[in-house]
Amino acid sequence: MATPEIWKAFSAHYSFAPRSDAAQARCMNCHTTPPQHNDFGKLVKATMSKQGTPGKLTPDVLQSIEAVDSDRDGWTNGDEARAGFNPGDAKSHPPGQPRSKAPVVPHSSPELVPRHTFHPVIVHFPIALFIFGAFLEFLGKFRRDDVVRNVAFWNLVFGGLATLAAIPTGFIAAFRLGYPLTPGTPVFLHLALGIGAAALMLAVLFWRRTGLVTKPAYWILLAVTALAVGAAGHFGGQLVYG
Ligand code: HEC
Repeated sequence: MATPEIWKAFSAHYSFAPRSDAAQARCMNCHTTPPQHNDFGKLVKATMSKQGTPGKLTPDVLQSIEAVDSDRDGWTNGDEARAGFNPGDAKSHPPGQPRSKAPVVPHSSPELVPRHTFHPVIVHFPIALFIFGAFLEFLGKFRRDDVVRNVAFWNLVFGGLATLAAIPTGFIAAFRLGYPLTPGTPVFLHLALGIGAAALMLAVLFWRRTGLVTKPAYWILLAVTALAVGAAGHFGGQLVYG
């Protein structure tokens, strides 16, 4: 309930023009995605508590942080907000050169393990190794080359092993970044494809270990699995890069 009040107090204090950056950014003057704050929002929050008015945005709070340049774009929070620009977004500022060099707030201390928990890095291993392994498996079959087939096998094995790191880090990243794991969301689709692909990878590897890979079904499963791995990666990439 406090939330729209903060926006109302903020916009009333600076009387933003309807088409100004700040008016259009609305909540994003202080938030990246609510309730997460950008650096201006963090400073607002800290100052509200310091001044003994937690949750309440007073003119005193705003005035006391006007000389700071929270988004480090060269313009102070006050210069930006008074001119209708977003003090929490470095890309939004008045045209021309900044008036003064404002004190810069230090970056908030970095987290030891970033929220994505290295999931977007780790997933490249299962994707690249497994798909390349599948490619070599087909190549070795057509060229009747056991060396190529051996190399293929180890690529598939390490692709499968890397999946064991990709799945838990994926869950941790979704949790820490606040993605809801509800059916119908892009994250859910990515998750379902990822787990499905991992199960298929295991099936391929077990089948491959038995040596009974002369059946066409093995090759169909291998192709489908490589596609599923690629699709899981594609939808994961969409989450990160849009
Ligand atoms: C001027 C900065 C500012 C603006 C603009 C702003 N917020 Fe906030 N918001 C805050 C601060 C500071 C807090 C933390 C309040 C606290 O800890 O008492 C907060 C808290 C929240 C929370 C956490 C829930 C809560 O009540 O603690 C949500 C959700 C939220 N804001 C959403 C929004 C939305 C949606 C908008 C746009 C209508 C918005 N905020 C606009 C500064 C802002």
